[in-house]
Amino acid sequence: MKKIKIHKGRKYSICSCGLSNTLPLCDNAHRKYNEENKTNYKSVKIISEETTKININSSTWK
Ligand code: FES
Repeated sequence: MKKIKIHKGRKYSICSCGLSNTLPLCDNAHRKYNEENKTNYKSVKIISEETTKININSSTWK
């Protein structure tokens, strides 16, 4: 479980592959992994309607 503060109107890319060094945010590590493994991981884009803190989790995060 990761807790992050997100700001109103700002776009965030959340890692879905679990390889990012900046979890929970995507650092584009999925691109190399996809090329090498023929997978199709993509980040999940979110835009908040307010500045707030959220808890997020993924089964791919260690
Ligand atoms: S690094 Fe995991 S989705 Fe981009």
